[in-house]
Order: sequence, then structure tokens, then C-alpha cells
Amino acid sequence: MTVSADVDNPLTQLTLDQLRRRTSVKWRLYPPDVLPLWVAEQDVPLAPPVADVLRRAVELGDTGYAYGTAYAEALGGFAARRWGWADFPVGRTTLVPDVMTGAVEVLRLVTDPGDAVVVCPPVYPPFYAFVTHAGRQVVEAPLGTDLRIDHASLDEAFRRARALGPRPAFLLCNPHNPTGVVHRRDELETVAELAARHGVRVVSDEIHAPLALTGARFTPYLTVAGAGDAFALVSASKAWNLAGLKAALAVAGADAADDLARMPEEVSHGPSHLGVLAHTAAFRDGGPWLDALLGGLDANRALLGSLLAAHLPAVSWRPPEGTYLAWLDCTRLGVPTEAPAGGVASDLAGPARMFLDRARVALSSGHVFGTGGTGFVRLNFATSPAVLTEAVTRMGRAVTG
Ligand SMILES: Cc1ncc(COP(=O)(O)O)c(C=O)c1O
Repeated sequence: MTVSADVDNPLTQLTLDQLRRRTSVKWRLYPPDVLPLWVAEQDVPLAPPVADVLRRAVELGDTGYAYGTAYAEALGGFAARRWGWADFPVGRTTLVPDVMTGAVEVLRLVTDPGDAVVVCPPVYPPFYAFVTHAGRQVVEAPLGTDLRIDHASLDEAFRRARALGPRPAFLLCNPHNPTGVVHRRDELETVAELAARHGVRVVSDEIHAPLALTGARFTPYLTVAGAGDAFALVSASKAWNLAGLKAALAVAGADAADDLARMPEEVSHGPSHLGVLAHTAAFRDGGPWLDALLGGLDANRALLGSLLAAHLPAVSWRPPEGTYLAWLDCTRLGVPTEAPAGGVASDLAGPARMFLDRARVALSSGHVFGTGGTGFVRLNFATSPAVLTEAVTRMGRAVTG
């Protein structure tokens, strides 16, 4: 994909000095000599349609409570245009504060305390924290060596989950963070078959859905045969960098409408009106900006491949099909990987600790992503080619120097 002629590449618009003035966690957790390529924030300005709608709301003092179905309608239009989802069910959606809170609220509808929730590690670390915080137990179904869903491992995990409690669920990451795998329709159909066989309810986190890169096609789980009793969680947060403007949607399959009707009304009080306005504008009018971003990300993915080959030949990876996350296998670097006990998603061990100390590059440490994560790092390439080049060059020097 080439960068759109109409909109400039959003990844080359901001200088490091401008970015360092930001006060979000990406730019404040580490000192200014560190290049932050960790948490999933992007180094982009706001998409103009999003900035406009926020500016208008501020000028008008339109800062009350959210109302209406505009967000769901905007997502429905986007889903039809981009994913061919013609009958997106606006009537089976509800506003939730963000994707993780929404996922937990949906899990509360379809499981009981003590029931099992299956996840496919290595996976987004809050999947563990939020599930256990909600009083459910995590059961792991590790990805295969090709980093795709291993259906035999999933079958076995569903069996164990069912033995642990009567109402198990599967928290699917579609596309998958940290590997960037965009699950194919046939893979998801097998998931649906297994879920039906074992009586497992599927909750699909689709926050990275708009970020399928050139060569991949995103499949909404709710459009898969046999997925009628599932739920999806969607938001514009990752693709348009709106994590600070909270608002997401829970979408129910045709056979999950009764479950959705039991969603407590107070959950919809969490998203902010400004968040709803921003996410609505992104899905409705943010397509050209997204295309320019996807062009920039595609170029960065290729650049990262060349940089790794030149500076870190011992590090291996499978280029992601979606997201702006690269999952780098650093096991051949031979860095000791002992990890601190317990911990949170920003904890560092092994290669991530070494790259912070010796290269002053902050990455996400693989060990917090569950089984299969130790010895890996996750690199966020939603930055300028200049920062990416500097970071990987420094990482290479840290290993050889
Ligand atoms: C797979 C996945 N789900 C959820 C989130 C967090 O989304 P939210 O802030 O809407 O809870 C992220 C953030 O990176 C993510 O990668």
C-alpha cells in the first residue's frame, strides 16, 4: 500500500520535542533520553475530523452526558465499507467505557464467579488481570509455534475450563496482540465449532480490527458461522489513538440479545460524551486518515524488517499482519530472563530490561504476556521512520557493543 495522496503520513507529522511535551504514560514513565516504543499509543496528531468534533464541542460547552446511537451507526457504516458486514446490528449494541471494562462486563453476563475464562498466550497482559479481578479463573490455551491459534490446545483448554465451572468463556483477541496475527475466517469457524461443542461463550476483543495491514483481511467474529451467541468489543481507540477519550461498544450476536439486555444500565454511564463524539467521528469520517496511517505502518513494518536484519540478525520475528506491534524473539541473544514475581504490564525483565539499560529504548517485556512470552519483547512501531531507525540502531549497538 502506498501512503494516500490526500492525507500526509500521520507518523511523520510530529517531532520528538513535540511528542515529549505529551503527558500520557508513554512519554512520562521513562526519562527523556529513552525512546518509548512500548505501550500502544501512536506518535500521531489527532485525525482532523476527530479534532474538529472535539473543538466544536469545547467551543459550545457540549460537555454533558452521552446520548443516542450515533457511535453504533458510525461503526456499522465502517463495518459495512471495510469488512463487508452489511447487517451490522446497531440495535444489539451498548456503550461501555472502554474495551477491557466492556469485556469484563460481558464476561459477568455469560459466566459466574469462579468460572473459567480461556485466553491464548502470549496475549495482552490485562486479559489476566481483568479476568482475575472479576473473580474468574484464567485457563491458558497457548498459541502454536506459528503464533496462530492452536485448535488442539484450544479444544483441550475448553475441556479443562468446562470441568472448572458450568459457564466457561473464551476471551479471543481478534486481531491478536502481541503477535499481530489477523485470524482467518476458517480459523474462527473452527473456534466457533469448538466453543459450541464445549458450551463455551466467546467474547471477541476487536480493538485492533481497523488495523489489518496490506495483505490481511479482518473477519469480525460475529460474522462467522456458528458465532450467534458471541459478543464483540470494538472501539476506535487503537487505530485513531483515542485511549484518553473513553468510549467503546459491546456488540451482541443474534442469539445473545437476551444476555445483552441484562447489562446493568450503569455500565453505559462510564463512557464520556467527548469520547463518544470522538470515536463516532473516527469511524464515520476518519477513513482517509486511517488509510494514510495504514500506508505509513506498512512502510514501517518493512523498514523494521530491514533494520532488524542489519542491526539485530539474532532476533527473529514474523511480521505482523495487523496492529502496529512487532513481537520479537530475542531468545538467541542469551540474556538471562529471570523475572520479578507478581508484577504489572510495565514490568521489565530479560531482553526488555537489557534494551532499556543499554540502549535507552523502552519496549514491553514478553514475560508479562503469559506462557510463551519469556525472552521476547513487543515493539510498537507506530512512530516515525526516524525514531524507529534510531531505536533499532541503538538496540543493535547494545547487543554488539
Ligand atoms: C487487545 C487489546 N484490548 C484492549 C486494549 C485496551 O483498550 P481499552 O483502553 O479500550 O480498554 C488494548 C490496548 O492496547 C489491547 O491491545
